[in-house]
Amino acid sequence: MKTIGIVTSGGDAPGMNAAIRAVTRIANSRNIGVIGFEKGWEGVLTNKHRHLTARSVGGIIQLGGTILHTSRSLDFKKDDCLQQAADNLNTLGVEGLVVIGGDGSFRAALDLSKKSKALMVGIPATIDNDVYGTDETIGFDTAVNTAVAEIDKIRDTAISHERIFIVEVMGRKRGFLAVTVGLTIGAEVILVPEDKCKMDHVVSIVKENARKGKKAGIIVAAEGCGNVSEIAKEIEEKTGSEVRLSILGYAQRGGSPTARSRLLASLFAEKAVDLLCQGKGNTVVVLQNGVVAYTELETACCGTKPLDPNLMKLAETLAT
Ligand code: F6P
Repeated sequence: MKTIGIVTSGGDAPGMNAAIRAVTRIANSRNIGVIGFEKGWEGVLTNKHRHLTARSVGGIIQLGGTILHTSRSLDFKKDDCLQQAADNLNTLGVEGLVVIGGDGSFRAALDLSKKSKALMVGIPATIDNDVYGTDETIGFDTAVNTAVAEIDKIRDTAISHERIFIVEVMGRKRGFLAVTVGLTIGAEVILVPEDKCKMDHVVSIVKENARKGKKAGIIVAAEGCGNVSEIAKEIEEKTGSEVRLSILGYAQRGGSPTARSRLLASLFAEKAVDLLCQGKGNTVVVLQNGVVAYTELETACCGTKPLDPNLMKLAETLAT
């Protein structure tokens, strides 16, 4: 293997830069050149790239976002676009492509693999932690910590005013972030897109807590649970408690990666370069029970990662 390409695609995640740095330095240490494509799949399609070296990726391990930039490129699904991208990789002599992103990015890699000779290896990086086959994705730990730090502050004012707060965290389709954040801030209720919002249940918890003398509370809701301002209004009307809404938003996607996100990025990068050197394309690096391993790209694209029901149950037990 002489040249590896790197692309960061989809929603950015803290630790993507640490992964770019590690892939580049590990590849360079094995005399493999590295090309970074700009702005996600768009860069592969338009051949916008730059050469990365051990020196050019210096000073980025602590930075959030991605120095290569990213995009959600819908055009990429078209047949002629995939062919153009495959031709570009071929012309540049890219024999292996490291795709740093989530399941959407991996589906694009799978499509591209049908046209391109380059080996594809995925590195899971998304704050949603929803990639099938891996216990954790790069950026998840940082996003959890960012949300926890903010909600701890919200708890202070909630207690002072004896108010209920609904705090919306990211996760349009999945509730991994909401459950982990909810459990670790001691949420009274956690709402996830996987479960229909049971308003009667939420109302009865808020009322029961008030009866017990627990007048303040935090409800953590994933973005995909519905209209949180309507949910807040309904809870206020049905319980008589004062309810306020706080949407954490994109702050959760930024910021300096935690040590854990940097470590995961470095370990995943090492495995990705190993896989390419061993000729094991169409794979995704994963973390399974604390061990860095890999799964097939198709498996990672097709599977649906289950939410851990024990975490939800534990959070409920701890919220009493
Ligand atoms: O990257 C994951 C994620 O932040 C989801 O939690 C969220 O629903 C979505 O991306 C937002 O996407 P966009 O950046 O396209 O608004």
